[in-house]
Amino acid sequence: MSAKSIVRAGDPVLRRVAAPVADPTSPRIADLLREMEASLAEAGGIGLAAPQIGVSERVILISVPAARKTDDPEDGPLPLTALINPALEPVGEDRALGMEGCLSIPGLRGEVPRWTRVRLTAVTPQGEPVDTVMTGMRARVLQHEVDHLDGILYLDRMTDFTRFGYVEELIEAEMRDVPAPQPEQESTQEPVT
Ligand code: NI
Repeated sequence: MSAKSIVRAGDPVLRRVAAPVADPTSPRIADLLREMEASLAEAGGIGLAAPQIGVSERVILISVPAARKTDDPEDGPLPLTALINPALEPVGEDRALGMEGCLSIPGLRGEVPRWTRVRLTAVTPQGEPVDTVMTGMRARVLQHEVDHLDGILYLDRMTDFTRFGYVEELIEAEMRDVPAPQPEQESTQEPVT
């Protein structure tokens, strides 16, 4: 399945509420997921929502590489996971700030408050129900992708636009602010979804 180009901010499809999928196990959804996987692999991100390849349906891919997990003991790496009709509700009141990027807003990063724990319900492409709690980076990536299904971009969630900018400038500023040598890895850990 060939990769489709990723839709960028400004395209109305990113502002639409995506439609629920009636049959998660249909061959059409399997094809859509293959297309999404190819597009995500080509773009080099960690998550993708169907509207980002122009398909307004409630389908997402999420992953968490080991290097990007938070210090939360329940957080952890997550292999690429397909979720259909995902729904989230916060567990508890805690929120955390973290830098995010988006394949639909290339080159930029911003600091976004997110729930630290969320309950996820969804269906797998095999038709199995999912009902689980995710924390840390898993919860962050999930919230970012489910927002895409509701026409919401991370910019809409930001509260401090002094913490927004081009990746290169943010990294440079961070290195200026922190006199101790910073491994470059630390500055590039923001999820791009
Ligand atoms: Ni995104």
